[in-house]
Amino acid sequence: MEMLRTDFKNMLGDNVGIHGLTPAELQRLGRQASRHLKKIKEERTKGCHPFLDLPYQKGVAEMIKGIAGELRSWAKDFVVLGIGGSALGNIALHQALNPPYISGHENPRIHVIDTVDPDLFDGLLKSLDLRHTVFNVISKSGTTVETVAQFLIVRERLKDSLGNAYPKHIITITDPEDGALRRLAEREGYVQLFIPKGVGGRYSVLSPVGLLSAAVGGINIDELLMGAVEMDKSTLGGQQETVEENPAMLGACLQYLSYKRGRHITVIMPYSSALEAVGEWFCQLWAESLGKKSSLKGKVIHCGPTPVRALGPTDQHSQLQLYMEGPFDKVITFLAVEKFKSSVEIPQSPEADFRYLSGHTLAGLVEAERRGTELALTEAGRPSYTIYLPELSAFHVGGLLYMFQVQTALAGKLFGINPFDQPGVEAGKAHTSALLGKDKGTLQHAPN
Ligand code: PA5
Repeated sequence: MEMLRTDFKNMLGDNVGIHGLTPAELQRLGRQASRHLKKIKEERTKGCHPFLDLPYQKGVAEMIKGIAGELRSWAKDFVVLGIGGSALGNIALHQALNPPYISGHENPRIHVIDTVDPDLFDGLLKSLDLRHTVFNVISKSGTTVETVAQFLIVRERLKDSLGNAYPKHIITITDPEDGALRRLAEREGYVQLFIPKGVGGRYSVLSPVGLLSAAVGGINIDELLMGAVEMDKSTLGGQQETVEENPAMLGACLQYLSYKRGRHITVIMPYSSALEAVGEWFCQLWAESLGKKSSLKGKVIHCGPTPVRALGPTDQHSQLQLYMEGPFDKVITFLAVEKFKSSVEIPQSPEADFRYLSGHTLAGLVEAERRGTELALTEAGRPSYTIYLPELSAFHVGGLLYMFQVQTALAGKLFGINPFDQPGVEAGKAHTSALLGKDKGTLQHAPN
């Protein structure tokens, strides 16, 4: 089954003139990227990059399906409490695969609350019937202030309304060994799931972090993981040596060369509302992984592309003017869906002005708008490329997310930085805790 295909002709000088890349430089960087991929594979055999092995955790998937099945028999609402990498993957999966107005009413409602906005949080809690609600508290560190605060509020409200029965309504996902939240979950007898050691938040969507809420929401997690396994073969399987054959290598090379040419902004623009949150998830993955002060050699480089999310066709009437005529500092990635679930025919119009639309479908209109935008950008010398997803299935979405993760790990190698840490985020977390009165000592040790 075809996983996805990338059309990058409009990244090349033949089509976009002086702002384009040459095939020779792409091939040259491809050879370098191929050596880095080999290194990633070697490191993987030594136990590094455990996120690459998440799709193969069959036992975990079975356990999650068991827990989800039981919850689905009584829960009406399933609330994820988490932030950053502990939330964005969940949102991406639900938006992509459980779109509004389509998903079945038999599924519990899934809410992912990645903020501590008091009005939103209080409003949500008041709207829930706590007897039929499960809270899934996700925090790898077990110390993130937003998640801890949410948890404390929820636990108190559950205790107040359900008494001793409350632990059944909380499921934690934490580091398997460390952290105050894990120890507390143990003491209070919650169901616990774990993020494997060495898997960072933004690389955890295919771990229990993303899988539990997906399974509760009725997403086929076996297919999701199967898509990731296929993508593993297509990117790290060893058969795809050239840049054109390997979607992760191609994406990393196009992005890296664009950055080196001064295009420091990378826009991800899905032409599918269902993929909008995949764009948001990608932005965190790309920004937090690649935005780094120091190189692996310890040199201060302050590198990193700035990801921007846009949505087609909506942003044609908003950001596109800037992309067409503003500074030449952007590269645009379109995400296109080849086969939408619905097509929706536009009826014959008696009005002459609108007759040109007759016989077309909304799916055709979306693709015409994407193509039209791509052509206009190309004519204006603005590089872009398109990743085509055959359809919005769990299999293809699993493959897409896995591909972006491999692309990010490889881009880290090209940039010469560590894409798996986030010292800047840690420093901000430490400052917040200190402002709230927590021991400031940790701040001195926060890497920067
Ligand atoms: O990707 C990351 O590592 C971060 O975005 C974290 O997921 C985020 O800061 C939340 O951290 P935690 O899961 O420890 O609560």
